[in-house]
Amino acid sequence: MTGAAQLKNHGGSVRLRAGWSKTTLTAGPGPILDVGSGAFPHPHASVICERNLDDNTDRHGASAVIDDRLVVGDATSLPFRDGAFALVIVSHVAEHVEDPVALCRELQRVAHSGYIETPSALAETLLPEPFHQWKVSRRGRRLVFARKSVSSKRLEWTSRHLYRWFYIGQEDRGRPVVSLPPGAAGMIVARMRWVIVGVLNRTHVLHTRMVFSAADPFDAVVVDDQSRRSSEVLAN
Ligand SMILES: C[S@@+](CC[C@H](N)C(=O)[O-])C[C@H]1O[C@@H](n2cnc3c(N)ncnc32)[C@H](O)[C@@H]1O
Repeated sequence: MTGAAQLKNHGGSVRLRAGWSKTTLTAGPGPILDVGSGAFPHPHASVICERNLDDNTDRHGASAVIDDRLVVGDATSLPFRDGAFALVIVSHVAEHVEDPVALCRELQRVAHSGYIETPSALAETLLPEPFHQWKVSRRGRRLVFARKSVSSKRLEWTSRHLYRWFYIGQEDRGRPVVSLPPGAAGMIVARMRWVIVGVLNRTHVLHTRMVFSAADPFDAVVVDDQSRRSSEVLAN
């Protein structure tokens, strides 16, 4: 850890909201880590950890926030000691990493509790991002990572058009999207989208979520998207 990234102790427990779903979490006393913080580090994070500072592909072109909380490191081999953090937040990162089982192991090693959020398998099917490697779903206390396979032509056509409409007016995503109509109509459509996506964001429709702690751990498994056969299991 760099000298600049000092750990701030919160003294007592703190309640906060994390991820795009704004899931409520309680962190015990101690520092909070945000892994893969990118352009949107959590405001309560005492330490943020990022691997890619120069390549913004994984962030739709947005630059990573670089401040005195930053530790450069890989999420699958975190440069922190065991139990260093009260809480770790990992929002929309697990679907990017090469070895999600190692990621899940590392998160439970460095923190007493944590939160992982990814796009749901449905969202990844209907609104796929080319730089996501996994479709993530949850079975009880297990996260299931299915490597994305090549989609059929019909599904590819459907998802391309769904994507254009779902992200209407979001030109900064760097992908083709439908433009908002000019004037008041555009403002109304943008407002309606904000409300609809805000509601969907709080459901399981768009996100897979896992809250964990030392007393309530989880495991992770990688499966073949075609056969769904388990190839690797992380024991509790
Ligand atoms: C889609 S952004 C998510 C940013 C933020 N957490 C959020 O919820 O908006 C994914 C971030 O994960 C980072 N990332 C991907 N693989 C990583 C790895 N192995 N170690 C650390 N960060 C990684 C990327 O650089 C990127 O900033």
